[in-house]
Amino acid sequence: MPENPDFEALFHAAAAIQPRAYAPYSHFRVGAALMAGDGSVHAGCNVENAAYPVGTCAEAAAIAAMIGAGHRTIRAVLVYGEGAQPVTPCGACRQRLREFASPGTPVAVAGPEGIRARFTLEELLPASFGPANLPR
Ligand code: THU
Repeated sequence: MPENPDFEALFHAAAAIQPRAYAPYSHFRVGAALMAGDGSVHAGCNVENAAYPVGTCAEAAAIAAMIGAGHRTIRAVLVYGEGAQPVTPCGACRQRLREFASPGTPVAVAGPEGIRARFTLEELLPASFGPANLPR
C-alpha cells in the first residue's frame, strides 16, 4: 500500500471522466476520483435529472464505483471541475466521503491546470459524525 497517495493517478482519472458527466441543466461537469485502501482508483461523474433534486454528484458516483469494486476504505479524494472557483465537495458529499474515509484523509480539488487546493476531510467536515458514533 503506497504511503503517499498518487494524486497524479487520481487527477488523470477524474479529468478523464469529467467530460462524460451528464449535466444538461447546470452545464457544470464534475469528475471525482477516489483511491481505495489497496491503491486502486475509482472514478465517477455527476448525473443530473429533469427532476432537479434527483441528480447525483460525481463523488457519489465514485463512491458507488469503489463499493461495487469491493472496497470499503477511501485513502484519498480528488475532485475535478472547470470554472474560476475550486470545486470543493458539497456538504452532503463531505458526509458521504466520511462514511469510508477518516478525518485525516486528503481531499484535493483540481482544475484543468492541476491541483488547486488540498484539504483534509476534517477541515471540510469538522467534528464529523461517522460509523463509530453509532452503538454496535
Ligand atoms: N457537483 C458535483 O458533482 N460535485 C461537487 O463537488 C459539486 C457539485 C455537481 C452537482 C450538479 O450536477 C452540478 O455540479 C452543479 O451543482
